[in-house]
Amino acid sequence: MKYNEIRKTFLDFFESKGHKIVPSASLIPNDPTLLFTVAGMVPWKGILQGTEPAFAPRVADVQKCIRAGGKHNDLDEVGFDGRHHTFFEMVGNWSFGDYFKEGAIEYSWELLTKVLGLDPNKLRVTTHETDEESTEIWRKVAGKEAIRLGDKDNWWSAGDTGPCGPCTEIFYDFGADIENEDDRWVEIWNDVFMQYDRDANGNLSPLPKKNVDTGGGLERWAALLQGKIDNYETDLFQNLMTAIENVVGVKKTAENTPSFKVIADHLRAVGFAVADGVIPSNTDRGYVIRRILRRAMRHGQILGHKGALLSKLYPALITEMGEAYPELAKEEKHVVEIIQNEENAFADMLQNGMKLLENEIPKVNSNVLPGEVAFKLFDTYGFPLDLTQMILRDKNIDVDVNGFEKAMSEQKERSRANTKGTKTLWESQTQLEATDDSSKYSPDANMQSKVLAILRNGDFVNEADAGDEVEVALDKTNFYGTQGGQVGDSGELKRDNKTIMNVSEASRVDNVVIHKGVLTDKIKVGDIVTTVINQAARQQTTRAHTATHLLQAALRHVLNEDVEQRGSKVSPDSVRFDFSFGRAMTAEEKQATEDLINKWISSDMNVSHEEMSLDEAKNKGAMALFGEKYGDTVKVITAGDVSCELCGGTHVYHTGEILHAKINKEKSISSGIRRITMSVGTLAE
Ligand code: ALA
Repeated sequence: MKYNEIRKTFLDFFESKGHKIVPSASLIPNDPTLLFTVAGMVPWKGILQGTEPAFAPRVADVQKCIRAGGKHNDLDEVGFDGRHHTFFEMVGNWSFGDYFKEGAIEYSWELLTKVLGLDPNKLRVTTHETDEESTEIWRKVAGKEAIRLGDKDNWWSAGDTGPCGPCTEIFYDFGADIENEDDRWVEIWNDVFMQYDRDANGNLSPLPKKNVDTGGGLERWAALLQGKIDNYETDLFQNLMTAIENVVGVKKTAENTPSFKVIADHLRAVGFAVADGVIPSNTDRGYVIRRILRRAMRHGQILGHKGALLSKLYPALITEMGEAYPELAKEEKHVVEIIQNEENAFADMLQNGMKLLENEIPKVNSNVLPGEVAFKLFDTYGFPLDLTQMILRDKNIDVDVNGFEKAMSEQKERSRANTKGTKTLWESQTQLEATDDSSKYSPDANMQSKVLAILRNGDFVNEADAGDEVEVALDKTNFYGTQGGQVGDSGELKRDNKTIMNVSEASRVDNVVIHKGVLTDKIKVGDIVTTVINQAARQQTTRAHTATHLLQAALRHVLNEDVEQRGSKVSPDSVRFDFSFGRAMTAEEKQATEDLINKWISSDMNVSHEEMSLDEAKNKGAMALFGEKYGDTVKVITAGDVSCELCGGTHVYHTGEILHAKINKEKSISSGIRRITMSVGTLAE
């Protein structure tokens, strides 16, 4: 049976048993304790705990999962065996206070042996040592004597606290001729009987209802049903690997198979995560995705491939999985653009970093690479530590991780000291002309700009080298420098189409835009460089900024007219908005605010961007910021008839471009001031 048919067979079976079939939830969980959705039950945690109402007594789905960050991390294992994945699909059926142990065990047995046709003699089951009831049910339903195991194997919880309970697991026996025990016995399904809630002290209290939470790895099911031991030998992965052969122009062999596996796996993780709104970055889940993408590129390089890889393979992912996950095709343009940007930025760094590493390897003593070298690779060439470790693993070389961390904290110290100092240093450059940043509202207007000043380690220098951390002023730029709450653009400076500097953020000191980042090639005062901003990040920031205006307007509608902005931070992945209000908002008020913003977004109102004198703006009724100073000519941003504000930030032209807004949190930050965090665009969707 083909991979995609198995998914459908699972869902059809549970539909025929009265389950409501729902699409997979996002990989970005609504749960601050997790980076990604790591199991099928994550979206249903509230229902299991009884804090959210169940929308149906019986539910089944196939959930997208990523285990590649934080506590749940399989990243290092991928490629070296047939069973590890960073991205996988978990099939699951739930009973929210409906059927319990008997129903769950009967359904599992019927699906596996009657519908999917597995040989009952090849299946073994385990139960918790205290669970007489399940053990008895197995005897009755399948004539099986369960193996009884303790908490380590047969007690399941999503984390240290929260819903949990005993479980029964079903294993498939691949046969006595397989020597490796882990390969021979493969867990294919876990039925958890969620009936307790564990608190922070480890105490168990009964949940309001007895629930069933089951989970099985679709990749394993596919291997089993296609007579394979290795998940990567199933039709879906073989098709992805054929696509890889075509893109890299190299045939798969026994020797290079690990690289094919890594790329196929990482394509799924990166493709699905970005389609769900993750943007590669330096923090949290954005960083996990960046690491996975860079690892994939390294394996592309091992196969002799240069440059963009996953962005070229993404259409193959749509072919294989787009029917089951329509978001893949819907987000194609956005995803390919984000991945491509990220791949382009890393391509040269990967080549140069490898050169550095190859020079260092012969100097290595007692098989340990010095921490400073690993740090230089990280800092200058963007090699995450685990990438360096992975490259060296083949050569039996370790990295001095303590040394790496020491170099990292020293660097942080230096840059803290530096940021304090650089503002004054730039201010002292009184001869420096103001940057012409009139193109900052045209993100794709790449400029040919002249380098006017370079600041490195507290000194203005005439030239600087690859690896140097610098701040650069240009005569003109389309980078938006951080101001008015909007975080500045990231991007690159290029020369002859080659990246020479990765700009992490553009900021402003008075009228000068400062491009801060790390050089990947030489630069000197007087050079002509091309300014290229990260368009995907800019697009998200732009959506976020207009959404912030709508948020302020919505709060004035829902709460009262006195609500005033007290501060904001608008960045690609979130909006932080502080406002004056004396008490916590109720759940209804939050919902009403979010609904109103989304109503305005779907009505696709025009957003006008006008320049006028401050007096004209005041006459028009434009809202100005408390305590802010404005020049004589100001920009006025008007969204339909709901919002009119003085603002120098970047904004959409139609509210529909924002796609969606979602309020994540509302809390107090000081007396009379509340803070809302909100996400927008693909991230909110
Ligand atoms: N929640 C259980 C698991 O992830 C089914 O294994």
